[in-house]
Amino acid sequence: MEIRKIGVIGAGQMGAGIAQVAAQAGYQVVLRDLETSFLERGLSSIKRSIGKLLEKGKLDQSAHDAALERIKTTTQLADLKDCDLIVEAIVEDEPTKLELFRDLDQTVKPEAILASNTSSIPITRLASATRRPERFIGMHFMNPVPLMELVEVIRGYLTDQATTQAVLDAARRMGKTPVEVNDYPGFVSNRVLLPMLNEAIQCVMEGVATPEAIDQVMKLGMNHPMGPLTLADFIGLDTCLSIMEVLHRGLGDDKYRPSPLLRKMVQAGLLGRKSGRGFYRYD
Ligand code: CAA
Ligand code: NAD
Repeated sequence: MEIRKIGVIGAGQMGAGIAQVAAQAGYQVVLRDLETSFLERGLSSIKRSIGKLLEKGKLDQSAHDAALERIKTTTQLADLKDCDLIVEAIVEDEPTKLELFRDLDQTVKPEAILASNTSSIPITRLASATRRPERFIGMHFMNPVPLMELVEVIRGYLTDQATTQAVLDAARRMGKTPVEVNDYPGFVSNRVLLPMLNEAIQCVMEGVATPEAIDQVMKLGMNHPMGPLTLADFIGLDTCLSIMEVLHRGLGDDKYRPSPLLRKMVQAGLLGRKSGRGFYRYD
């Protein structure tokens, strides 16, 4: 099946980025969130990001304008009914995603592919909320979507070859390099990355060093582009906690136990960059 129209659900940092790269690749895009104000925030982040690419000459004015033209926004799930591929990028919470996929399965055409941008939740479990597990797949973009090359592609137990091929092709058309991995909690990317971020948070809690010093050690010593605490703030501390919980529950080992400091910061509403404060302040 040819993919022409892509639905993106969730206009947060990931959904906005996915809508942007899909529109830049020439797809028609319908971006859905719960409230108009969330859609407006998502659209303004798309305009900022695509504006930077224009400034740098990575795309010309007509490609810039055409990409923005291709993005429509809505609060109604029904407006996604004729999409060929739907990429879900809502909050990292299994019951919320299951409920959405149950509704989506009833709403969109039977031949449409459903993809989740989940960071960690097993794809097979999400697929089980639908009557189309063979057309359900993980399409895991990296943050910031417009700049990062990887898309981790995760087949569920029942995902068929045609779906996998269609999603690999769509990722390539968006200028990304897809890498296929198997369906385990956290896949590869976050099973490897998140325990490192969690350990950096433990270092803060135990007073091993200040957040600034920890970040400097990892930037200057390991050539990481961002220190782990800056990166945790960038991802969102709520998302980091959810991923650690999925790893801990799904893999069992104590090495995946979320840092109590991470839990406490999320309880206090310190979610990182998106809430204005995490390990650092963003005013
Ligand atoms: N759109 C367009 N341009 C952007 C942008 C965006 N969203 N974000 C930044 N840029 C531009 C900046 O404007 C800047 O442009 P100039 O060079 O003209 O100033 C350029 O990109 C570089 O940005 P910065 O100078 O601010 O910072 P940088 O050199 O550190 O690069 C970065 C930014 C590419 C994000 C880099 O810091 C980096 O690679 N960080 C690590 C990101 C990472 O690890 N991502 C994975 C997170 S984990 C994940 O995604 C999976 C999950 O499930 C949690
Ligand atoms: P975010 O908090 O920035 O955005 C989530 C958006 O989803 C919000 O705008 C919220 O209003 C919306 N939403 C919630 N429930 C909804 C529903 N039922 N229908 C429509 N919209 C709904 O989160 P994010 O960082 O963009 O993460 C989204 C997903 O992408 C999560 O599954 C996360 O694990 C994954 N992810 C995040 C990163 C990252 O670095 N932040 C990287 C890769 C994958």
